[in-house]
Amino acid sequence: MTPRTTTVAIVGAGPAGLVLAHVLHRAGIAVTVHERLSRTAVEGAARAGVLEHRVVEYLRALGLADRLTAEGERHGRCEFTCLGENVAVDYGLLSGGIRHWVYPQQLLLRDLIAAYEQAGGAIAFDRPVRGVTVDADGRPVLDTADGPLRAEYAIGCDGAHSTVAAAFPGGAGGLGRRYPYDWLTVLARISRPVEQIRYAVHADGFAGMMPRTADVGRFYLEVPAGEEPAGWDEPRIRGELYRRLELGGDDPVLGELLETGMLRMRGRVAARMRAGRLLLAGDAAHTVTPSGAKGLNSAVADAADLAGALLAELPGGDGSALDGYQRRRSDAAWRTQEFSEQLLDLLHLPAGLSPEERAFALRLRLERIRRIAVPGPEGAAFALAYAGAGELPLPAMWPSAQGGAVATGATGR
Ligand code: PHB
Repeated sequence: MTPRTTTVAIVGAGPAGLVLAHVLHRAGIAVTVHERLSRTAVEGAARAGVLEHRVVEYLRALGLADRLTAEGERHGRCEFTCLGENVAVDYGLLSGGIRHWVYPQQLLLRDLIAAYEQAGGAIAFDRPVRGVTVDADGRPVLDTADGPLRAEYAIGCDGAHSTVAAAFPGGAGGLGRRYPYDWLTVLARISRPVEQIRYAVHADGFAGMMPRTADVGRFYLEVPAGEEPAGWDEPRIRGELYRRLELGGDDPVLGELLETGMLRMRGRVAARMRAGRLLLAGDAAHTVTPSGAKGLNSAVADAADLAGALLAELPGGDGSALDGYQRRRSDAAWRTQEFSEQLLDLLHLPAGLSPEERAFALRLRLERIRRIAVPGPEGAAFALAYAGAGELPLPAMWPSAQGGAVATGATGR
């Protein structure tokens, strides 16, 4: 059979794949998008929900943020509870005005899919790519359910077990870490919206309360690594959430638990994000724990960079426009890992401490929380990194591109 052809084959219709597909398609590049899951599964999975300032400004400049900015909410405060103290961190103020947007990931994906289709793009849902090979000219050939597909470039936006990464000679390699705890996740109906993220630093383990929509919140409980969900029935989950988060007063009341799960806590950065005409973005290139809410955001940042690099390369470049991609995104991925791990260190106590050592460790954490809550270099650094100050590069040809980047008036990092 003669393989079908395309210019850029994108594997995975998550945030990275969809943003990349959108920019390339709008620039007139032939793109195919292959997604293993059904449309319902992609549009239904509750995951992240906190978007960085720079990501939203980028999506806005692409015309992809109308619903997000109409229905989403801006958040500029979070709080930490520790040893009976509640410390508010007004990161919107500490950052000089940079804030998050709260908008559930599955709604963003729904919007990106709708916009892509409206622009004439098509996504092949329920269509796993079974494997990728490289022909004698170095061009990728994808083994799809509809037969072989030959592409100029294949982009792996297909998560931690990427088929494109598997086609790298010797694999994508890299360094990773499994943390000694997991996060039990809960999506729950709530009596009133979560007004701000709450991090509970507690002797019995971290707990978190995160906003999503007016009547749904996302909650986290630290549990030992490898813990099975079966050991956590509903009364136990509710009890631990109320106790560790010190819920009461004006706090939301937990209604029905809509979904519970276990997040295995891992960090990983691939050693190689490019092998010739194969490239990786998002979770295929790096995995970050949910701490700090950077996964979705760094996936969009990868896509923004790669879109610009591919547009500079196509048609018929010699590959040099793609040369810097891996270095830039690897540096960014390590910055993100470091930020996420700093926050993890603050939220969790080391294992194996005596009661006195635990009390000491908690008191030290309270000290650090107080320090990032006040104006000064640490408060500002935390706030700018947390809210995602700075800008993502718009492709130079984009009508609203000003000097190649979204103008935000923000102080960049
Ligand atoms: C979340 O919204 O799920 C979230 C937000 C901030 C974090 C971790 C998770 O630090």
